[in-house]
Amino acid sequence: MKAHWDKVYSSRPITPITQLGWYELLPTPSLTLIERCALDKKDAILDVGTGATTLLHALLEQGYQNIVALDISEIALGIARTEMGSKYATYIHWIVDDITNPTRISELPEIALWHDRAVFHFFTDDQQRQNYYSALLRVLRPGGYVIIATFAIGGATKCSGLNVRNYDKEALIQFLGPDFRIVDSMDYLYQMPSGDLRPYVYTLFQRKKTT
Ligand SMILES: C[S@@+](CC[C@H](N)C(=O)[O-])C[C@H]1O[C@@H](n2cnc3c(N)ncnc32)[C@H](O)[C@@H]1O
Repeated sequence: MKAHWDKVYSSRPITPITQLGWYELLPTPSLTLIERCALDKKDAILDVGTGATTLLHALLEQGYQNIVALDISEIALGIARTEMGSKYATYIHWIVDDITNPTRISELPEIALWHDRAVFHFFTDDQQRQNYYSALLRVLRPGGYVIIATFAIGGATKCSGLNVRNYDKEALIQFLGPDFRIVDSMDYLYQMPSGDLRPYVYTLFQRKKTT
């Protein structure tokens, strides 16, 4: 996976991030759900598989002060840092790690919001999904929020040459299990830079305080 994603972000000629098949000028659906969480600006937000997302910049602009950007690809994080410029990049905590086999998870603060857009659907293997879930339980505080956005059922079955597992709201409810309550969900039709449309499902969960 690491080799695959390093190659995606470093292939020559370099693909501008605005041409990546998941690029968003404004990550509006994520920001809408994040607003629903009514977080304190000092609460820790973990963006899992952050890539070169514009979300980090948007969150800094909104005043969030405790953002962790995690990705398996150091090259992706390097691009993200360059794109946002050193003035902003110093406010982000950057972590290179595999969320399905994490080794640096103990460095994370207690997380108030776990955000994942277009990452979880790559974990087609049950062991990967289980490891992802264990990592989530380990870092997310009771009462903390989870946003997972994946390709919808009936949507694309591959991305970046990799197979994906498609979800709907019910499948994500089942994945997170009884320790989480669904707060909101929405279907979202994302338009790729190529103009093609990709249906996503966005879900917002809250971890129950008693778990
Ligand atoms: C399709 S991109 C989405 C990037 C970003 N979330 C966005 O919405 O723009 C998937 C990202 O997940 C990262 N990724 C894939 N597998 C991962 C893993 N096991 N652990 C951490 N990051 C991973 C890739 O390097 C890539 O940056």
